[in-house]
Amino acid sequence: MKITLSIIKADIGSVGGHIKPSQKLLERVREYVDNNGKGLIDDLYVSHTGDDIALLFSHQNGTGNEDVHKLAWDAFVTGTELAKEQGLYGAGQDLLKDAFSGNVKGMGPAVAEMEFEERPNEPFLFFAADKTDPGAYNLPLFLAFADPMYCPGLMLSPSMAKGFKFTIMDVEYTEGDRIVELNAPEDIYDIAALLRDNERFVVESVHSRTTGEIAVAVSTSRLHNIAGKYTGKDDPVMLARVQGSFPATGEVLSAYSIGHYVAGFMRGSHTGPLMPVRINSAVSYFDGPPIVACHAFCVHKGNFTEPADPFDHPFWDYVREKVARKAMEMREQGFSGVAMLPYSELEYGGIVEKMKRLDKLFKVRS
Ligand code: 13P
Ligand code: 13P
Ligand code: MG
Ligand code: MG
Repeated sequence: MKITLSIIKADIGSVGGHIKPSQKLLERVREYVDNNGKGLIDDLYVSHTGDDIALLFSHQNGTGNEDVHKLAWDAFVTGTELAKEQGLYGAGQDLLKDAFSGNVKGMGPAVAEMEFEERPNEPFLFFAADKTDPGAYNLPLFLAFADPMYCPGLMLSPSMAKGFKFTIMDVEYTEGDRIVELNAPEDIYDIAALLRDNERFVVESVHSRTTGEIAVAVSTSRLHNIAGKYTGKDDPVMLARVQGSFPATGEVLSAYSIGHYVAGFMRGSHTGPLMPVRINSAVSYFDGPPIVACHAFCVHKGNFTEPADPFDHPFWDYVREKVARKAMEMREQGFSGVAMLPYSELEYGGIVEKMKRLDKLFKVRS
């Protein structure tokens, strides 16, 4: 049976700053989809990661389906009304357009979708991150799909021996989707050369070279390219199919033990380590640190099991301590150098005006 998995997520308002949505808001959004998705949706799972609400749908309508996207958009619009009634902070933050037009891509919400023939057993992972952007997945994906140091399956499993194809998007290009397809292992130096630049080049999808099947889909939107100014970070979601001809769950998870430094954190303008957290976690210190949650499901005939929470395990407490230390080490240098993002990435317009004013004060000494 051919199924489509779609994650559509948005920040439509949160409690106490950019921390987490209210319980009522989550319920309102879920209720809207329950009441209006009949006949369209096979299954639904709703969760939040920091202040972002993600809707995971299973359905049979293919990717980019207008009805599915409209259902999610309308659920977020309905939720925004409640967020306003409750006086939540940033109500409707990610709904950047007034009217729905065919597809939520380019309207603010982040989308990751894939259509595939369901295997007899179909385990997959749904990742959601807050206070960071889509490039945060670059390194973990490279290590899981191209590096036998992290993914021994590349050596051990005959069904992975041919490696994987990476589709990488230039997210600075705004006229359309500018992409390149590169193959691991033979192109790994080229893949690395692109993926080192998390703000410009982002893994959009990964495919098995053995079966041609899709393994990974990542949301690639960059809100500031849509809005032309800072409206919050892009807080990316990702789907990854696992086991069989794909890496094992633990191989996909392994690189999250690094707590690598990513863009985001306070005001979307800083560098902080990515902390793996439990499902439905909030953020805290310095509006962060950047967090990533993982929901591990099986889907069968379009129906989800309950999720397992792989980062809810004593091992990850040790990692979280390490990541907290890395966060503090970076924060000790405040605004200096790499602790803040380069000028081109600064998410707040204020600095642009400040620099213009300061520029006029400069004089060339004669
Ligand atoms: P099991 O033998 O528990 O199925 O594990 C196999 C495997 O590939 C673990 O990564
Ligand atoms: P969000 O993008 O998660 O709303 O965070 C914005 C922010 O400015 C945090 O300091
Ligand atoms: Mg927010
Ligand atoms: Mg957010």
